[in-house]
Amino acid sequence: MMAEAVLANRRGGLGRTERRDLWWAGPLATALGLGGFVVYATFRALYNTDFRVVPPDSAYILSPFYSPLIVLPWLPPWVSPAILILWAPGGFRLTCYYYRKAYYRAFFLDPPACAVGEARGHDYRGETRLFLFQNLHRYFLYLALIFLVILSIDVVYACIWPADGGKTFGISVGTLVLGTNVTLLTLYTFSCHSLRHLVGGNVDCFSCVAMGQLRHGLWKNVSLLNKHHMFWAWTSLFMVAFADFYVWMIASGRFTDLRIL
Ligand code: FES
Repeated sequence: MMAEAVLANRRGGLGRTERRDLWWAGPLATALGLGGFVVYATFRALYNTDFRVVPPDSAYILSPFYSPLIVLPWLPPWVSPAILILWAPGGFRLTCYYYRKAYYRAFFLDPPACAVGEARGHDYRGETRLFLFQNLHRYFLYLALIFLVILSIDVVYACIWPADGGKTFGISVGTLVLGTNVTLLTLYTFSCHSLRHLVGGNVDCFSCVAMGQLRHGLWKNVSLLNKHHMFWAWTSLFMVAFADFYVWMIASGRFTDLRIL
């Protein structure tokens, strides 16, 4: 009976459902959150200015959208250093197992939620043909791990302040913002389904493989983080946008970066 109702809803057109809960809230929040991020990130990637502050006024603080900073003077001005690198973290998020579910529902409405009618009828074909590119996720994961190292080095630079012709250790709000950003990105990356598979999920018998104990420990810890992958996905997304916004504000002189230590 329930299955018949589900099929009837699906045949009945977009949004038709027997559900009485707020099923549309999740797809709507995803559309607003992801859509807003894409608009902001595109604008900032094309903006191509106010993405860093440099000594002697401050430590070296670089926006995560522009890190690593690759400057190729022979490129046209609209090709900013951000455009040269953002495809890698962007591809990592685009092919993320969690985001796939979320944006298929929010943007393709195919279907918008469980037991809710879809526009094109029930002809789900899975991730075939054009969607085979989603299999690249594990390769984007390798790139994301490299980005974590680079962003961590940026935090170290943000702790080196100029002092009397030399250098000294210091921490500002900007340092904390960059530190929080790389921490959340690390939690997001280390909760990845592909990483879980890589460190131990593909092993049938841990005592039968080399470094089985180590792999079991890694797999257990990644599994713990993996339970909250959606949470890390959203918090790290908002934090990376905020970190860029913060650097934009201090680089343009609208805010002053408060030194704490
Ligand atoms: S599954 Fe989401 S980052 Fe890998």
